[in-house]
Amino acid sequence: MPRPAVRPVLNAIPIAAALALSALPARADTVDVANGAALFQAHCAACHGAGAMGDGPMTEILEIVPADLTQLNDSQGFPAGEIARAIDGRDMIAHGGPMPVFGRILEDQSAVLDARDGSPVFTSQAVVEIVRWLETVQR
Ligand code: HEC
Repeated sequence: MPRPAVRPVLNAIPIAAALALSALPARADTVDVANGAALFQAHCAACHGAGAMGDGPMTEILEIVPADLTQLNDSQGFPAGEIARAIDGRDMIAHGGPMPVFGRILEDQSAVLDARDGSPVFTSQAVVEIVRWLETVQR
């Protein structure tokens, strides 16, 4: 009797390789900006407003005014990594203010952005998509 164990192992190799690839941080060219817009409306608009101008309905009861997220550009352009870090919130030692730590809520596929000092910002694909949508609404 031939031993049948070899073939299942060979079949499993491509599957293992595919799983390993899917665990890699998402590349920038797979970012779904429309999904970022939808996530923003679902998770952020109550405080920051549908147009991200810091004027959502929750502002009436918040003691700290939510930031106007259409004014994030500075002389160096849009600080994507820094904004992702602020939204994710998980690497902050003390997180003050009423804004939730979204890194835990929007945890799905992991993703990486570069901060301006070149350091990597580890976050999720959802946070990256929100950041890329915010980039489109800068005034
Ligand atoms: C409960 C209300 C609330 C919700 C919901 C909320 N935020 Fe905020 N956010 C704030 C407040 C208040 C501030 C300003 C104070 C602070 O930084 O904590 C802020 C600050 C920020 C900043 C920092 C701006 C800067 O200039 O550094 C960013 C970026 C941001 N929010 C993005 C988001 C995104 C994206 C979401 C949704 C995933 C979100 N916020 C959801 C209340 C909220």
